[in-house]
Amino acid sequence: MIRLILKNHDPAAKTGTNADALNGKGLGREVNKQASEQTLFVRGFIFGSRAERGPTFQDLKPIAALDRRKKKPNGWNTAVGKYAELIYSPKVLESKILDVIARDGKILDVGLGSGIQWLDFCEKHGLDIQKVNLSATSLTDTFHPILKEYGKDVVISDAASLHERFDAGSFDLILSNGSLSRQELSGIENIAHLVKSGGEAIITAKGPMSYEVLIQPLANSNYCELVNYTIPTINDIAPSWSIHIRKS
Ligand SMILES: C[S@@+](CC[C@H](N)C(=O)[O-])C[C@H]1O[C@@H](n2cnc3c(N)ncnc32)[C@H](O)[C@@H]1O
Repeated sequence: MIRLILKNHDPAAKTGTNADALNGKGLGREVNKQASEQTLFVRGFIFGSRAERGPTFQDLKPIAALDRRKKKPNGWNTAVGKYAELIYSPKVLESKILDVIARDGKILDVGLGSGIQWLDFCEKHGLDIQKVNLSATSLTDTFHPILKEYGKDVVISDAASLHERFDAGSFDLILSNGSLSRQELSGIENIAHLVKSGGEAIITAKGPMSYEVLIQPLANSNYCELVNYTIPTINDIAPSWSIHIRKS
């Protein structure tokens, strides 16, 4: 994996210490406030025809039925602080999440896996999960039931259908780690649609991705500001990419 740097970029961001990237100016061009406040979801508004819905794993191979029979919760459980390790250290990401929680902001985790990681996060920081304004999505109903027992809103949805499940501009912070499979571009558009004015999204995904397909349209978008990103090189054996966007 390699970091490709846009103008103004501070290489310190590699270690998650780039306060500019996290709190200050973005990398793309200025965002049109009116465009960023649009409430109607129009597929392709950032990536054009490349942002088609795409079949999920679930469409191709229904794993939910299998997992339900086994009564086995989804085992994916990455520590929340490590969701964006490609661009921000756990400490930096955790402090961003804690800021949002401190002002009772709304957080969405797209493709949460088991969800137990949010209990661990709350325990680590002495927070009561019931008081954290957290929603999440899962492709199947195999997330851990304890999240719902604590009153968390876990919605079954693929990344390309989020606009049908949540209101436009309703989240202060959206996180997604490794969970946009086969719907990377439409998933990003959906996430951008749900971020509120002044809110942010930090997304990491596995797989090859190019500057032209991912970064250029985001940097040129009127809709949201590209704060930071990483993309893989052609030779990466385990390619991953990440983006940090903000709505003005
Ligand atoms: C690799 S796990 C990561 C889970 C968790 N975010 C973590 O970091 O541990 C991917 C999760 O995203 C879900 N997922 C995969 N593709 C998806 C898509 N296109 N839309 C929504 N969820 C998806 C899977 O069901 C799975 O629970």
